[in-house]
Amino acid sequence: MRLKKSDFKVGEKKKIIINGKEILIIYLGGDKFYAVNNRCPHLGCDLSKVGVVIREELICQCHFTHFSLKDGKALKGATKNPLILYPIKIEGDEIEIEVK
Ligand code: FES
Repeated sequence: MRLKKSDFKVGEKKKIIINGKEILIIYLGGDKFYAVNNRCPHLGCDLSKVGVVIREELICQCHFTHFSLKDGKALKGATKNPLILYPIKIEGDEIEIEVK
């Protein structure tokens, strides 16, 4: 799925559906885009609603688990299950997310 970089503001999160999966796109400025599974790997809370981004961590406010946006690792909180990240390619104004 291709999206436009210029459609995102810095700090913005957007939920999209690709191949039936809920994906949360997070934009942190420059070329820093992240695509993650929108469902928390702990008990499945909707991260587009309860996720808060601080620096390069996504915090699920259901039970306050902190996930690294760099590699998906659960850094602290209620679970050790990692957040699923999807590869992103950026070419000019286009961003491409690979969801299998
Ligand atoms: S559902 Fe996200 S931390 Fe529990």
